[in-house]
Amino acid sequence: MSRRGLSFICQNCGAGANRWQGKCEACGEWNTMVEEGAERPPGRKAPKGRLFELQPLTGEAHDAPRLPSGIAELDRVTGGGFVRGSVLLMAGDPGIGKSTLLIQATAALARAGERAVYISGEEAVAQVRLRAERLGLADAPVELASETAVEDIIATLTQGKIPRLIVIDSIQTMWTDTVDSAPGTVSQVRGAAQMLIRFAKRSGAAIILVGHVTKDGQIAGPRVVEHMVDAVLSFEGEGSHQFRILRAVKNRFGPTDEIGVFEMTGAGLREVSNPSELFLSERDLGSPGTAVFAGMEGTRPLLVEIQALVAPTSLGTPRRAVVGWDTSRLAMVIAVLEAHCGVKLGGYDVYLNIAGGMRINEPAADLAAAAALVSSLANSPLPADAVYFGEISLSGAIRPVSHTPSRLKESAKLGFARAVVPEAVRGETGEGGLKTSHVGSLTSLVADIAALGRPRQNTGPAAKTG
Ligand code: TYD
Ligand code: MG
Repeated sequence: MSRRGLSFICQNCGAGANRWQGKCEACGEWNTMVEEGAERPPGRKAPKGRLFELQPLTGEAHDAPRLPSGIAELDRVTGGGFVRGSVLLMAGDPGIGKSTLLIQATAALARAGERAVYISGEEAVAQVRLRAERLGLADAPVELASETAVEDIIATLTQGKIPRLIVIDSIQTMWTDTVDSAPGTVSQVRGAAQMLIRFAKRSGAAIILVGHVTKDGQIAGPRVVEHMVDAVLSFEGEGSHQFRILRAVKNRFGPTDEIGVFEMTGAGLREVSNPSELFLSERDLGSPGTAVFAGMEGTRPLLVEIQALVAPTSLGTPRRAVVGWDTSRLAMVIAVLEAHCGVKLGGYDVYLNIAGGMRINEPAADLAAAAALVSSLANSPLPADAVYFGEISLSGAIRPVSHTPSRLKESAKLGFARAVVPEAVRGETGEGGLKTSHVGSLTSLVADIAALGRPRQNTGPAAKTG
């Protein structure tokens, strides 16, 4: 066996080295270098290449370049459906629901009369059938197989009409003869993905590769495949919640800021077309430390509850713990509260949580987070019918954010009566009878909340607000 080039491959990031190392120089992970057989170059033996025909840029396009799955939340994230000849990676933790979603998608397509194939490398055909039965999809004309050899899969699928959609579950179980190393290694994952991508481009079939993400980096992550595919969708959720969020991490044919929201039920994944209702369904009304944030995910407004707990600390260095938001963003909001508003949090632990297992990246959440923090510290519940949005600058000013009308409209639709918004959006309000109160600085927000307050019952340091 000829070993050319780099034969030690990092199982975390796919970087190569020509000798064993304890630590990968590319990604810094320890104990991830594994010796793998080098990939043989694809068999192109003739010294002269095959001649091909160059095509004009303008020409006949395929008649239906996109095929919607019929599952609206999935189509929203792909940008309108599966593109012919494209390859999509569906990544997520084991058990999050990737197989469930994809069997539902193939069944929907097959029922619509398209040839849809589901290849499982993890489960036997009988197991997949059992799951389909539980999901009420047993009658869908999906073609099933339990196979792991990529050459066999491609040879079989080339027979007859090319399938419109092929699901490969998962890429980590696939192997190709062109690579010497064991299934599951980076070289095999990369080699198998390469063959499937070439097949998709050649045949026009859309392929979805399932990839399990593992945190310890022991099994080759789908990361090495990310740059090879056209789109990467990440399927996320908190173990204890029923919500699942599908997010486009990369998409050559569509937006990357849209999310799809699903709920895992006994009968598979149910689409959630109004996620705000779901995320606000278990609100703890009337308790201090919660604020509703009117956020945006792509083009869709999304209301979520931000919960804060500010409690006297018993530690030398108080704790700052965040779930679903950015830790450095919290540190910034705390610093602004301390520096400009006289709110001293040095003697308190601070916990911040986004309800429902949602993750927020928008700076527009600053104002709602600050309101929740001050509400908890002052022990004054915020009005239950109010939403908050606005970005806080380091000077303590509240800056306007985009999509104000959509945020207000969604809030009014869900029965909220008022919105606390940045001063500068004065012209854009008046949606659906929603009353807007404008705050120009964090100081005035703090004063407003303190005015609502009732005295703190516990024996901790007195809340100093304003
Ligand atoms: P699965 O789709 O197998 O996850 P993945 O392919 O990402 O590893 O989902 C497995 C989990 O989903 C499992 O814990 C059971 C749960 N589940 C339901 O709650 N309802 C259902 O209808 C199905 C099929 C699965
Ligand atoms: Mg699975």
